[in-house]
This record gives sequence, structure tokens and C-alpha cells, in this order.
Amino acid sequence: MSTLLFLRDVVRSPIQMGAVVPSSRHLARAMVDEARIGPDDVVVELGAGSGAFTKEIVERHPSNPLLVFELSATLAESLVANFPSAKVAAAPVEELPAIARRFGISRIDRVVSGLPWALWSEERQAAILDALIPYLSPDARLVTFHYVHSRALGRVATMRRLLLERFSHVTNSDAVWANVPPAYVHIAEGPKGPRAGSAIES
Ligand SMILES: C[S@@+](CC[C@H](N)C(=O)[O-])C[C@H]1O[C@@H](n2cnc3c(N)ncnc32)[C@H](O)[C@@H]1O
Repeated sequence: MSTLLFLRDVVRSPIQMGAVVPSSRHLARAMVDEARIGPDDVVVELGAGSGAFTKEIVERHPSNPLLVFELSATLAESLVANFPSAKVAAAPVEELPAIARRFGISRIDRVVSGLPWALWSEERQAAILDALIPYLSPDARLVTFHYVHSRALGRVATMRRLLLERFSHVTNSDAVWANVPPAYVHIAEGPKGPRAGSAIES
């Protein structure tokens, strides 16, 4: 059902969705493996779509607090129904400070992103990363994915540069060839800079 809702949104808003089919279980496993979620980690998922990554997070880490952002109201409704233990915000990630306040979250340890960064301008990519940085704990880890065929796109390189400016280590996983289209996980850890962690309440 959520796949049908996803496909409907792809037809209505292809640029917002940034994919033609939901991510596979293979990619979801790779994303959650690379996120290395620990027992007490606060997890935030950005752009959950059909819930492919949400399902993997909830099944493998049922006790971790999870805040999910999804801009599409219909997909967000479906996420609320399918994942009652998650806090779902039907809102753009850009509203993170207000949403975090509403849900009482002042620290984020793991970010799992399904956002279509490669379709966005440098300014938009930077604005979203800069909204996140103050909430990230010192050992925070952010995982996102890009399609293998989009690796040569300027905006993927831009995303890598923006991550390198804001995190101590940025790496890529091996390609997940079983995903359609094949994808790889982009991993950033150790937020840096004067604003990193500045919103965390002690
Ligand atoms: C590539 S799709 C989702 C991938 C997801 N892993 C899946 O398999 O369904 C990207 C999702 O990000 C959402 N999105 C796009 N811009 C957003 C924003 N600014 N804030 C929150 N969600 C956003 C879209 O509505 C879409 O559902």
C-alpha cells in the first residue's frame, strides 16, 4: 500500500520524491548497518517515503527513540499507521528546530537520510545540514545514499564537499548492486565546527 502511495507521489511531485521506486531491503540493510545504531542513540530519519528504512530501523532497534520527517502528507499518514512507536513529523526537514522542540529532542546521535540531495542546490543542501549540526552529538553519524549512476553529478560532489566541511570523516560504502537502481551509502561522522552540538542541553 505504501508503495502505491509512493508511486502516486512520484507522478505528482517527481522532484520532491527524487526516486521512481522505493528503496530495496538490501539498501535499507546497508543504510542501517552503516548507521551503527547503539542502544541509547536518538535516531532521526529524513525523508522516509514509503518507510523502507523506517521498517529496518524499527525492526532492528525497537527501543531507540526515532523521529521521522516526511514532507508528503499521505506518506506521513501511512508512516504513522505502520510505525506507531515512531514520532512522525509531516513537515520539511528545514523545520527541524521547531519539530525537535515539539517532540522534546535536543540531541541527535544517528541520522538516516532518504532525501534526494542530488536534485538540490548547494544552498538547500547546506541549509539542511546547518539545521542539523547544532543537534548532533560528538560521535554522531549521518548516512545517506546516492545512486551509482549519479556519482558523476556535480551535486553529489557538492554534497560530499559540504559534508567534509562539517564532519571529520566522510566515506562511501561498497555499491549495493541489488538495489534498483544500484546505490551506495555515503557516511559522515564526527560533526565539527563551532555550531556542532550547540543546541544540546546538558
Ligand atoms: C527518495 S524518497 C524516499 C526514500 C525512502 N528510503 C523510500 O524508500 O521510500 C525521498 C523522500 O523525501 C521526501 N522529502 C523531500 N524533500 C523533503 C523535505 N524537505 N523534508 C522532508 N521530506 C522530504 C519526499 O517526499 C520523499 O518521500
